[in-house]
Amino acid sequence: MRRRIIAGNWKMHNNISESQNLVSKLVSGLTNQNLIREVIICPPFTSLCEISNLLKDTKVELGAQNMHFEEKGAFTGEISSDMLKSVGCKYVILGHSERRTIFGETDELISKKIKKALTSDLTPIFCIGESLEQRENGTTNDVIKRQVLEGIKDLTEEEVNKIIIAYEPIWAIGTGKTATPEQAQEVHKFIRSILTETFSETVSEKIPILYGGSVKPNNAEDLLAKEDIDGALVGGACLEAESFISIIKA
Ligand code: PGA
Repeated sequence: MRRRIIAGNWKMHNNISESQNLVSKLVSGLTNQNLIREVIICPPFTSLCEISNLLKDTKVELGAQNMHFEEKGAFTGEISSDMLKSVGCKYVILGHSERRTIFGETDELISKKIKKALTSDLTPIFCIGESLEQRENGTTNDVIKRQVLEGIKDLTEEEVNKIIIAYEPIWAIGTGKTATPEQAQEVHKFIRSILTETFSETVSEKIPILYGGSVKPNNAEDLLAKEDIDGALVGGACLEAESFISIIKA
């Protein structure tokens, strides 16, 4: 059985005290709950250290939202995998569409980051997804295939087994427009077929594929019920403890 995961992407939200507040509510809301899903939160860099302390002895794991692929050096404003590990991160979101579209990250750059994360023992949450224009042009599958293959091109089978993929159609992110469970399932299944072709069925059956894009308490259950949807990457709805908890429990 595949891992089931709910990850929260805080994006550029919450200073230290707001972060402490949200995490305390989240942790107390999840205490004594019998969870069938793993929970990961990805706050901004500035809150990681503080939150890492708050998450000790809880079941909630910590991730970051980005990192650089080099070990260290003259890269002003960047954060390394070693820095993330030193504050207790186990996960890192890579290739998010906001990084691709706003900050110009390319498939090539993302693939280097994925490789670096894996060699540093961090689990990449590798994001892919098509724009509205690409969906309307009928090129969704081409885009997804290119992003997947480019992202994993330098990985060994052992490495690819460790990644988490998040399918996030750009047109559904932060827009309140969710892909229907059927639309999401179709792409998730397609992603699995690419993994089968490139590696093996054992690999494709193992890799968790999360859906992201306006996941809310009222649509989570239907999305998560689909065979190839193993969890969710949640943006807006993870900024309130209550709504994030109800997605975790959906
Ligand atoms: P959203 O964001 O849930 O606010 O649409 C998801 C994401 O960007 O990861």
